[in-house]
Amino acid sequence: MRPSAERSSPARWRQVLLAFLLSLLRGALPNQIRYSIPEELAQNSVVGNLAKDLGLRVQDLPARKLRVSAEKEYFTVNPESGDLIVSDRIDREQICGKKPLCILDFDTVAENPLNIFHVAVIVQDINDNTPLFKQNKIELKIVESTKPGKTFPLDPALDSDAGPNSLQRYHLNDNEHFDLAEKQTADGRKYPELVLKHSLDREEQNFHQLVLTAVDGGDPPQSGSTQIQIQVTDANDNPPVFIQDIYKVSLQEGVPRGFSVLQVTATDQDEGVNAEITYSLHNVGELVEQFFNLDKRTGEITTKDDFDFEIANSYTFSVEAKDPGDLAAHCSIQVEILDENDCAPEVIITSVFTPLPEDSPPGTVIALIKTRDRDSGENGEVCCRILGNAEFILKSYSKNYYKLVTDGPLDREEIPEYNITVLATDRGKPPLSSIISITLQIADVNDNAPVFEQAFYLVHIAENNPPGASIAQVSASDPDLGTYGRVSYSIVNSDLEPRALASYVSVSAQSGVVFAQRAFDHEQLRAFELTLQARDQGSPALSANVSLRVLVGDRNDNAPRVLYPALGPDGSALFDTVPRAAQPGYLVTKVVAVDADSGHNAWLSYHVLQASEPGLFSLGLRTGEVRTARALGDRDAARQRLLVAVRDGGQPPLSATATLLLVFADSLQEVLPDVSDRPAPSDPQAELQFYLVVALALISVLFLLAVILAVALSLRRSSRPAAWGCFQPGLCFKSGPVVPPNYSEGTLPYSYNLCVASQSAKTEFNFLNITPEVTPSQDLLCEDASWVPNTNHEGAGVPFASDIILKVSFNLLDLFSLWVLVFVNKSPNWGLSLNFIFCLVGSI
Ligand SMILES: *[C@@H]1O[C@H](CO)[C@@H](O)[C@H](O)[C@H]1NC(C)=O
Ligand SMILES: *[C@@H]1O[C@H](CO)[C@@H](O)[C@H](O)[C@H]1NC(C)=O
Repeated sequence: MRPSAERSSPARWRQVLLAFLLSLLRGALPNQIRYSIPEELAQNSVVGNLAKDLGLRVQDLPARKLRVSAEKEYFTVNPESGDLIVSDRIDREQICGKKPLCILDFDTVAENPLNIFHVAVIVQDINDNTPLFKQNKIELKIVESTKPGKTFPLDPALDSDAGPNSLQRYHLNDNEHFDLAEKQTADGRKYPELVLKHSLDREEQNFHQLVLTAVDGGDPPQSGSTQIQIQVTDANDNPPVFIQDIYKVSLQEGVPRGFSVLQVTATDQDEGVNAEITYSLHNVGELVEQFFNLDKRTGEITTKDDFDFEIANSYTFSVEAKDPGDLAAHCSIQVEILDENDCAPEVIITSVFTPLPEDSPPGTVIALIKTRDRDSGENGEVCCRILGNAEFILKSYSKNYYKLVTDGPLDREEIPEYNITVLATDRGKPPLSSIISITLQIADVNDNAPVFEQAFYLVHIAENNPPGASIAQVSASDPDLGTYGRVSYSIVNSDLEPRALASYVSVSAQSGVVFAQRAFDHEQLRAFELTLQARDQGSPALSANVSLRVLVGDRNDNAPRVLYPALGPDGSALFDTVPRAAQPGYLVTKVVAVDADSGHNAWLSYHVLQASEPGLFSLGLRTGEVRTARALGDRDAARQRLLVAVRDGGQPPLSATATLLLVFADSLQEVLPDVSDRPAPSDPQAELQFYLVVALALISVLFLLAVILAVALSLRRSSRPAAWGCFQPGLCFKSGPVVPPNYSEGTLPYSYNLCVASQSAKTEFNFLNITPEVTPSQDLLCEDASWVPNTNHEGAGVPFASDIILKVSFNLLDLFSLWVLVFVNKSPNWGLSLNFIFCLVGSI
């Protein structure tokens, strides 16, 4: 290539200047030729015509053999034209480095003659090198916390060109954070420096990429660039931040332990360890730590214990999140516990009024009951009711209070104790309930009267019982308790003589056993009735009456008694006359006997024990009638004697005998000699008659006095039914007649009444009155004991006032009548007379 064609005009100008300078130097340096060429000329480019410049002629050249002699040959000489030609690449930067003037010196040799010429080629710089950075990427790490103004030296770029073509300046692409400064080292090298203009925020932008460009001064300038990659490293400049400030959560109180309540999350915009958050419970009470567990890594809150709504229904606490730089954040946790119906209602009995008297009226308060349920809302609403017992009801008293009251009558004797079961149920779903039992004792009240086991007691006892024997036992029960139920017995009434009662019967107060106080005699007392009372010890005491009828049974304790034929006053037997012409069947006489017993014991039978002429007389077995069995024969004696036995029907039978003297005669005169044989009445009899007359007179006086007294007394008293008087001086008892069960024949004398009914004003004598039928109810049955001298007189009680007087007077009257009767009969009976005296004494 031709240099002139390639060069621009300034270069050419410089070349001309250089040639001029070299021509000036030629004089100073003989034989040295200088050329100036730009570097990087293409091969075979002509530097100059060396031959001409050496003053050689072209035609001489082959002979002179002009050549370049150098260690490294950049140039050769064209042997034909003598031009100096570039033969190798000429890189100024390679040859001269940074030297401002780069000269290639070499010699050229010409022969024939040998001449050596020094040639100097000045290599001129061209801008053939661009600035270059050693790395095309610069990596920097800058902590985000770095303060603005901080500088970061960078490696300079290199430009091999020299002079104006060398590196001139740096510049940085536009950016917010960095500036570029140029610094120079002590040895004058320039290097760029990165200056932090504004502070960095990793969280905003953690990477910055800049382009650093180095520009040289060439024309045109060349530039090289490198990338600056800035990694903003984290500084713990961000505190953790909770996603939520407040966490609210509701928990059922029955959640199991370990239940995950929630997870708090905090974030930290920092990274790495700076973003490692630890959670902790913050500013909490014991309670919270007891119930909640916080995972310090994950922030998960779990339950640690069983919740009880009733202890606490909400928990509020805070959780702290902290990063390693102790930057912290807090959030608030509100845990609300939802009530579950987990508490059964409680029933509390505040007071029980037990024992409760059984006569408490309905509505009496027995107990106060309080209910409690620790649950809330419907779960805590309790209602109560009673199971079973209809006698009680619950009345709501006030909130949560109930009164347990009676709702009906109570009876301790029926139910002495109640177990009242109260069921309390809440309204939860499902409801819970609890049961409580109240034991209520019913206290006794004397509300039950004793009750006899029988409505009526009837006892049969046989007469002649030993005194002190127990004859009956009554029993009454009283269901009341203690003294209210302790029964004592007493006799409150009887049909016995009130004064004599105690001598007849007594009752044991404790046992109710009725004791006979004496031996009873059926012939005197056939029956009596007692009213017994059972009485408890209450106050007031309650009592019950029962009547006890005692029937005194008969025993065969009385032998038959022969009334007729009676013995004469001297004890000799009387006799009966029988007409000699008496036909068979003629009723001669009748043996009359009585038996004080009754029934079979009094059923008499008559038997002939001895007869002087057996077969002459027949004796009625039951009637006692003595009849002739056949006509009197001539050989038969005029006087006949019959020994008759009278036997009763008792077991064993008792008997009596009677001797009948029967005289066959046609007139009484025939018999009289026998009769007149009888001795005259003796002196003692006359004396007795005298005493009797005196006694009669005395009695008459007494009678008159008594009548006057009685009239006087009865005037003072209201008229009242008179008492009964009895003709016979023995006992007189009201009693129903007892009829032998198999009594049928009317002929048999059953009882002999010798009575006077004073109720009827008139006096009536019923002597030997046979009463085959039942006596009228109002009748007195008076035992015919008048012929018994040793009659028991104990039964005659001491009468009172006018009754006594009346009785005495009537007795006296009776006796008087009897006396008259006896005298009229002219057959004074001494037994009767004695009896009369006894009766008199007894009456008085
Ligand atoms: C009441 O309950 C108690 C104890 O459970 C028991 O001993 C008693 O017999 C009960 N009484 C009644 C009347 O049920
Ligand atoms: C029992 O009898 C007595 C005496 O007759 C009488 O006073 C009392 O009232 C009676 N009691 C009853 C409960 O009938």
